[in-house]
Amino acid sequence: MRSTNPITLLLLASTAAGYLIPHPPGKYNVTLTTGPLVDYSRDDPYAATPIPRALMLSVFQPVRCASTVPVPCMPDKIAEYQGPFLQATLNVSANLSPLFLEARLPVCSSNRRSRCSPLDDVPILLFLPGYSIPRFYYNVIASAIASEGFTVITIDHPGDANIIIYPDGHAAYNNASILDSPTWDYYPLADDTSFVINQLSNATAMAELLPARGPRPFRTDRVAALGHSVGGAAALVAASRDPRIRGAINWDGTVFGMPPAAGEAGPVLAMSQPVLFMSHQTWFDTTWTATWAQLGGPKMAVYVANTTHYTFSDVPTLLQAAGQSAAPFAELLGTVAPAEMLRVLTEYTVAWMKGVFAGDMKKGGSLLQELEPGRFPGVSVLMKDNF
Ligand SMILES: *[C@@H]1O[C@H](CO)[C@@H](O)[C@H](O)[C@H]1NC(C)=O
Ligand SMILES: *[C@@H]1O[C@H](CO)[C@@H](O)[C@H](O)[C@H]1NC(C)=O
Ligand SMILES: *[C@@H]1O[C@H](CO)[C@@H](O)[C@H](O)[C@H]1NC(C)=O
Ligand SMILES: *[C@@H]1O[C@H](CO)[C@@H](O)[C@H](O)[C@H]1NC(C)=O
Ligand SMILES: *[C@@H]1O[C@H](CO)[C@@H](O)[C@H](O)[C@H]1NC(C)=O
Repeated sequence: MRSTNPITLLLLASTAAGYLIPHPPGKYNVTLTTGPLVDYSRDDPYAATPIPRALMLSVFQPVRCASTVPVPCMPDKIAEYQGPFLQATLNVSANLSPLFLEARLPVCSSNRRSRCSPLDDVPILLFLPGYSIPRFYYNVIASAIASEGFTVITIDHPGDANIIIYPDGHAAYNNASILDSPTWDYYPLADDTSFVINQLSNATAMAELLPARGPRPFRTDRVAALGHSVGGAAALVAASRDPRIRGAINWDGTVFGMPPAAGEAGPVLAMSQPVLFMSHQTWFDTTWTATWAQLGGPKMAVYVANTTHYTFSDVPTLLQAAGQSAAPFAELLGTVAPAEMLRVLTEYTVAWMKGVFAGDMKKGGSLLQELEPGRFPGVSVLMKDNF
């Protein structure tokens, strides 16, 4: 918990049209489709009564299309929930709901009549949010990565996200009993990730999720996982248990339960897929060292200067796009320029995933080879091996 000076948001005054986030920086624009995937083979471990585990997803697909439409970043009911949530979590006096209510993301229309059909034959990245953070806090980051030629799917996990709203209007809220487990909800999250991969090859499920695309499976041999905080750690847990996940990236996530107690298997099993860690400031915790020992493939850990745990989200970008000074939030969000952070996260992710899917990290390019020290002066390599 941190204390800050009282912050007044100018946004509160202008609620009509909202503010527009810049279009994504890559070679493509993106389409955005949201919807559920229900696993009828598993009960939700965090529901009060037995119900099937129901995920909500946002699918960002790259598209060649030069006209975009502004869409709300999240449903109003979810945005309105964030003010009280963030006030409590971050101990700020500002009501941040308007920041989320008014944000408009530029996306291309993906309906059947639109002439902009997404690129289909691209690798797929599954994104796991931080504990209690709805997937909508990563729309801008997901769009930026998708605009480089990836399908990015952000996943809300029931019981974890502070609020999820399903198409029938009912809501699921965070269940704090997750914190009682020494490994939080890594195992349900890993199962969710594997379930999404199963469904990628289920033509019926894909047609329900992406009606404009029709009943066609996706390839599942070019899938990787990444995430922030608990989601970043869970991406590693999932990859260590599901070899279909070809690589993983952990943004600033402590890997609880590592090293495991004597005689027990830890949450991250021995694995050979490439793993990238990105941390705020010079933070590097002992759970990463213990996890490092489990990784037999290419691995690298970097830190990003002038950042905090929360810089790894859309919040700094939203404040800037809204014309709001980020200065009062410096202690909370770091001082790195939002566009620079977005570039760091996007370019390292893209380079890493290019290497992963080429089966050769050298193909990830000069950034990973540390041949461009001037490109991101704020990024320092802490550890690197098996390149
Ligand atoms: C929250 O911030 C206020 C000042 O704005 C401070 O007095 C209080 O101690 C903080 N609470 C926590 C739990 O950090
Ligand atoms: C994306 O759409 C915007 C319009 O919002 C357009 O200016 C831009 O050129 C498009 N980008 C690409 C890569 O087509
Ligand atoms: C939270 O999850 C626990 C199981 O971990 C369950 O027993 C409880 O009913 C859940 N609480 C709510 C409010 O759903
Ligand atoms: C494929 O998806 C449909 C629709 O969600 C579902 O009814 C069916 O059980 C799924 N098949 C498998 C093998 O999971
Ligand atoms: C980090 O912030 C400090 C203080 O504002 C600044 O001097 C330094 O250049 C910044 N570092 C990077 C890499 O941007």
